Amino acid sequence: MGQELNNIERMYDTVAQEYAEAFSGEHDKKPKDQEILHRFSQEIVERRPVWDFGCGPGQTTEYLKNLGIQISGLDLSEKMLEQARTIHPEIHFRKGNILELEFENDSIAGAVAFYAIVHFTKEQVLKTFREAFRVLQPGGIFLFTYHIGEETIRLDEFLGKKIDIDFMFFTTDFISSCLKKSGFEKTEIIEREPYPGVEYESRRAYVFATKPVVRKSP
Ligand SMILES: C[S@@+](CC[C@H](N)C(=O)[O-])C[C@H]1O[C@@H](n2cnc3c(N)ncnc32)[C@H](O)[C@@H]1O
Repeated sequence: MGQELNNIERMYDTVAQEYAEAFSGEHDKKPKDQEILHRFSQEIVERRPVWDFGCGPGQTTEYLKNLGIQISGLDLSEKMLEQARTIHPEIHFRKGNILELEFENDSIAGAVAFYAIVHFTKEQVLKTFREAFRVLQPGGIFLFTYHIGEETIRLDEFLGKKIDIDFMFFTTDFISSCLKKSGFEKTEIIEREPYPGVEYESRRAYVFATKPVVRKSP
């Protein structure tokens, strides 16, 4: 049974303004984020289109845009999108669901998804990876992040607002096995310790997963 999408959407609608205030510009305080986003931009170069899935207020979208990537953002929460559009009027943002993407097969060059799977059950994580795999072009790159662990944290308050939602942590073994099941062959998972005083103190992981290029037999 999945965590209800409308509960996730409602929660982000409720905290959108506070979230934007808290997380805009966060990459400036996180050197590993910067290194990883620079690497992504160097690997994508001029390929397009690139999407930020679960973009929230658009801080990652903006960071990549400033590195020269032509990128758009997609999110479930209309209020998050309002924040993103207000803060970054030069970037295109649209509503969408990463569990059922309205994109053609093999149609996008790259996708990033920073902490977009944090409310998903294990089944929903696998579904997300399958969707990302489906829409990526051969050779396309999927970069995403998650909190490492096995726990689920139920929150009834977030950024000063009353909410009721689960935050999920995942083991790297679980993420690796879902990537394999989804068809990704070339994957790299980079783990790091938390930045104390800067973020919630959980261990984090960044994942680069590339959709294989199918070679025609001679
Ligand atoms: C933890 S926030 C991360 C936001 C931003 N990427 C960041 O790093 O701060 C999770 C975001 O994913 C979005 N989200 C959750 N489920 C989604 C879904 N099924 N489709 C699209 N966006 C989703 C939420 O609305 C929220 O903006």
